[in-house]
Amino acid sequence: MRGIILAGGAGTRLAPLTKVTSKQLLPLYNKPMIYFPLETLIHAGITEILIIMAPDHAGDFVKLLGSGKDFGCTFSYEVQEKPNGLAQAFLIGENFVDKENVALILGDNFFEDDFINPVRNFKSGALVFASKVPDPERFGVVEFDANNKAVSIEEKPKQPKSPYAVTGLYVYDNTVVQKTKSLKPSARDELEITDLNNLYLKEGTLEVAMVKGKWLDTGTFEALYQATTYVRDKELAKTV
Ligand code: DAU
Repeated sequence: MRGIILAGGAGTRLAPLTKVTSKQLLPLYNKPMIYFPLETLIHAGITEILIIMAPDHAGDFVKLLGSGKDFGCTFSYEVQEKPNGLAQAFLIGENFVDKENVALILGDNFFEDDFINPVRNFKSGALVFASKVPDPERFGVVEFDANNKAVSIEEKPKQPKSPYAVTGLYVYDNTVVQKTKSLKPSARDELEITDLNNLYLKEGTLEVAMVKGKWLDTGTFEALYQATTYVRDKELAKTV
């Protein structure tokens, strides 16, 4: 399994914090934000990792993370010229993915969970992770039937059919690159990860698991603050 960290985008919701740096390089208490999704991949046993960045601060990512040797990994880097959607990661990363399965994680997502077993046991199709949230309309939302089987996924619905957000960790088999090539840009001109997940859903090969621990998308001031506090509390608890 190879891994991709998507760390592009303009970070406009966090301006002016993101005027001179990238959102994913901002601190969550004692580490740059990108360390957290990176550690999530590494703990899941993934060590061949592609980092996709916006052009403006690409050099800073390379300076921070280097070859990957310090992390026991091999890092590759690619630039996403414009934020044309999460699924574009599989077009930019086509050569990197090669013939392998791939996990995509968003560079601003914080997970307190261990994905080693789901990653190790993954064979084919798609596996996404859901988490119950108070504001599902901000996310991709998955609806389940009476047997807990996913029946629909909608991107930022005005009237969410459930309180379960699809989080920013996605595991796909190698057909993901071909599937992404069949996607059309959405109304907001992005290749939507939700459209990709719906292709797997239609095919009957999409599995949805629950995130067991804490999950935060740190892309707003409030979420950034919450994540920082959360990491701080955990760090301080270690010293007691
Ligand atoms: O966080 C989980 C959510 O992420 C999912 O529930 C949604 O289905 C999914 O669309 C996405 O929603 P967001 O509104 O959070 O997406 P956003 O545009 O904020 O992008 C998420 C991260 O990916 C952010 O750190 C910027 C980066 N990004 C985004 C786009 C569109 C890129 O690197 N390139 C891009 O083209």
